[in-house]
Amino acid sequence: MTNEDITNDLPKSVLDVWQSLPEELRSSLVSSEISKSGTAISHSPSVPSLASSRFASSSSSSNSSSAGDFSEDGEIIEKDAASGATVILRPIERAPKNVFAFTKELQTATTKVEKNSASTVTTTTKVVTKGRGWRNVYNLPISYDVNMVAHGTILDSSNPQLLHATGVHPEGYNRRFAVIDTEVDKIYGDRIRNYFTELGIELTTCVLNGGEAEKRTAAVDKLLDDLCAYKLRRREPFLAIGGGVLLDIAGMGACLYRRGVPFVRVPTTLLAIVDASVGVKNGVDYACGITDETYKNRVGSFYAPSSCLLDAAFIGTQDARNIANGFAEIMKLALVRSSDLFELLESHGAALIDSRFGPNKTTPAGVAERIIDLSIQIMLEELGPNLWEFKLERCVDYGHTFSKLLEMVPGADIMHGEAVNVDGFFCVVLSHLRGYIDMKTVERVFAAMQSLSMPTDSKDLKSKLAWQSCLDAIEHRHGEMRIPLITEIGDSICVNDITQDELDRAIELM
Ligand SMILES: NC(=O)c1ccc[n+]([C@@H]2O[C@H](COP(=O)([O-])OP(=O)(O)OC[C@H]3O[C@@H](n4cnc5c(N)ncnc54)[C@H](O)[C@@H]3O)[C@@H](O)[C@H]2O)c1
Ligand SMILES: [Zn+2]
Repeated sequence: MTNEDITNDLPKSVLDVWQSLPEELRSSLVSSEISKSGTAISHSPSVPSLASSRFASSSSSSNSSSAGDFSEDGEIIEKDAASGATVILRPIERAPKNVFAFTKELQTATTKVEKNSASTVTTTTKVVTKGRGWRNVYNLPISYDVNMVAHGTILDSSNPQLLHATGVHPEGYNRRFAVIDTEVDKIYGDRIRNYFTELGIELTTCVLNGGEAEKRTAAVDKLLDDLCAYKLRRREPFLAIGGGVLLDIAGMGACLYRRGVPFVRVPTTLLAIVDASVGVKNGVDYACGITDETYKNRVGSFYAPSSCLLDAAFIGTQDARNIANGFAEIMKLALVRSSDLFELLESHGAALIDSRFGPNKTTPAGVAERIIDLSIQIMLEELGPNLWEFKLERCVDYGHTFSKLLEMVPGADIMHGEAVNVDGFFCVVLSHLRGYIDMKTVERVFAAMQSLSMPTDSKDLKSKLAWQSCLDAIEHRHGEMRIPLITEIGDSICVNDITQDELDRAIELM
């Protein structure tokens, strides 16, 4: 790899500004960039460390050993963010350009001062620790299409989209596998099977229950059993048809089976259409045998689907509570990112729940599609550049701090979106107490949530649970709370310093 490869990464104007900065400032910016990026820095295929090498490009003429410099013979010199060791990377002969040999050297000095009545003796001991090894820098190309299917046509055998999503197979290979939510199977099972029968394909199904209580490793085991029995081929995408719970279980099965097989998401709930199907996360709640507690989404992975097929007609068979549940994730996006989306919810949400997202007397044509499109686009704008969540300040985490424990209270009759909404309104109140938003805004959000029949409070939202949620957030978001609050409808910031007293005042105000 040459310096030119890397300098090509950045526009000249940026490099010029960078070069004009003093060396100490550059070094400290590089170090802070490296520590922010965490492990992410080693995921670029062409450069061994994204943050340091990018910055290094501008100071390549220098031979000093500050982070990310280049020596004359093309070695890359970095500072290890954790230990402070100097690391020298060399592309290795005959190896692909993503493999490097390195040497590491760490110099430490300890000073001991011994005093007696006559003298003071200062001894400095310098220790040089050396190491060597190899670095493999590799990244995966991630690309998946989120397809909007023409309303109500996904199970129409004249529409080949569902079949095409299941991959390209040799002539005569006429079987497919689908994991389907139980309720979806009851309502759409015949049509799903007919679709494939009409195309001359035999469909094998695994039917799993939706609902949060079912989102456990046992469901993943059942899916894996069925995949083994079916003998799914390694490059054969299977279909996952259901709500967020089914899709999360299926994604986990897909990433585990043969260490990863492709799968296609076909969401059937509003929540899954706008949220659970568009990112790369999957997972299940984990019942820990030691603490006897069940932790929301505690085990899972980041694993992209091969594609997603979204047909909003599925929403037509959801009940009002489940549709409102989906609106909660849309409300979250509106509060943190889009006042336009908020206005659409305010004006048309209630009528759309009544009409099960279908046409109705008060909602102009195109509004339902606009709400879904805007939600997916905002979601992808937020998730797209941060798919693996290396950046932990995420506005889409709004409503997902206190909700995790609310959902897991034993026996609580609260759905995911409902818990997200209670959390979301609690954060509106916290935002108000901090002076970020006025009371009129609080009342406006409250009225919109009420009009959508979304819960804004829960008997389980108590001081202890709220504070424990903040402590859990610190654990989950690596050392800081990073709790998103709103500064107006459509904008947010993350805060790290919420106090127990503040939580108690917000609970009182609720
Ligand atoms: N992976 C992600 O990025 C992500 C994002 C958001 C939410 N989620 C997860 O999604 C889950 C919630 O999803 P959900 O609200 O879809 O719940 P769900 O999957 O449990 O579905 C809700 C209920 O609706 C039924 N159902 C599904 N489709 C139907 C249809 N078309 N008609 C009638 N009934 C139908 C299901 O059987 C279930 O009883 C949570 O576990 C949450 O953690 C994941
Ligand atoms: Zn959610």
